[in-house]
Amino acid sequence: MTLTRKDFPQGFLFGTATSSYQIEGAASEDGRGPSIWDTFCREPGRIHDGTSGDVACDHYHLWPEDLDLLRELGVDAYRFSLAWPRIQPTGSGAVNEKGLEFYDRLVDGLLERGIQPYATLYHWDLPQALQDIGGWTNREVAHRFAEYAGIVTARLGDRVRSIATLNEPWCSSLLSYDIGEHAPGLRDRRLALAAAHHLMLGHGQAMQAMRALNTGADLGLVLNLTPAYPASQSPADLMAAQFADGYANRWFLDPVLRGEYPQDMWEAFGQDVPDVQAGDLETIREPLDFLGVNYYTRSLVAEAGTQKPAQAQYTHMDWEVYPQGLSDLLVRLHREYPVPPIYITENGAAYPDERGSGETVSDPDRLAYYQAHLAAVADAARQGVDVRGYFAWSMLDNFEWAYGYSRRFGLFYVDYQTQERTWKESGRWYQGLMSGTPVAAD
Ligand code: FCB
Repeated sequence: MTLTRKDFPQGFLFGTATSSYQIEGAASEDGRGPSIWDTFCREPGRIHDGTSGDVACDHYHLWPEDLDLLRELGVDAYRFSLAWPRIQPTGSGAVNEKGLEFYDRLVDGLLERGIQPYATLYHWDLPQALQDIGGWTNREVAHRFAEYAGIVTARLGDRVRSIATLNEPWCSSLLSYDIGEHAPGLRDRRLALAAAHHLMLGHGQAMQAMRALNTGADLGLVLNLTPAYPASQSPADLMAAQFADGYANRWFLDPVLRGEYPQDMWEAFGQDVPDVQAGDLETIREPLDFLGVNYYTRSLVAEAGTQKPAQAQYTHMDWEVYPQGLSDLLVRLHREYPVPPIYITENGAAYPDERGSGETVSDPDRLAYYQAHLAAVADAARQGVDVRGYFAWSMLDNFEWAYGYSRRFGLFYVDYQTQERTWKESGRWYQGLMSGTPVAAD
């Protein structure tokens, strides 16, 4: 089957996404302060290949060329994030004008090329000075975040089409403070749930600060959602799947869309639950113009733990390829929650690409992944879900957090020695879909 724009609702946006720490490099240029990822990368054993985002894709210098590539790719929109420590090097107080100027140029550069800017304020690079006072476990950091949101919005709100507060608060709380895989690398559930609550509070306060500025930008939140399917219908497996769903999804969906924490999880977390103060949930529930959904895979859950179905396909992250999970998820959100319009703000796959000698890098598995997941989005739209856009993760191969440079997600291949970008076949396929001259794929 060949997908075309006609398979999607009218006005549906196609784009691609990146994030500041993963592509910018220039870690100590123009007054940027250190972030928790600079610190984390220097701790032995944290990053599988021992690397860091110090140079990454050198996008801080190569952005004009990168924006030219985006134009050639033919995207309607580009989702990027801003590095808080470029704008407020210590996370509070004085603004570093050079940091804001970089994003000014980037936004203007996008608009000049006819590409709509979709900004994200926080994609995990917290100023280290705020971690020194406890990071997100400190309620004060929520207020600092709202202040930063106001600074950025006052400057760019007239030109960006959309501003998301947080990218994936599950990752910056539970994955970072409970599971310990991301910065700051702690393993403490009580601290993780405090961090999650303050992230959501910071989100709500930022929404209020931005609303007050009354710019034309759409304001919202990006969640990563991982549907949990029970491995069998046994009561124990069903319960385990319900917990997994609560831990990954409902702990964030319920407060932001319903103004409450899920009761079953509140009980299951026992003594570890956060200190929720009067008015917090009202703030967190501030109405959204959109919900961003990042989807990569599902989990298949049994009492004994997560299962890996033998007949399934897996990406280089060892994540199961399960496009049905995306349409199921979208339909569920539509049926069970009072959701605003949805954007798929990330979806994509890592495979061990090789540069080869051709003009284009061959990546048939990624191309098939995109095709199947875009078809799942179109399917959900046909079932009545108000889904308005899709951003492929990622434009470029980049610094994949704890995996360093060992996992490639790009539509463009990056040679990290020369910083040369090369088209992948999936990029050409996506270009064909967007331009209306689809490239048939088997
Ligand atoms: C998401 C992150 C993004 C990237 C992809 C693979 O969780 O938002 O930065 O690492 O996963």
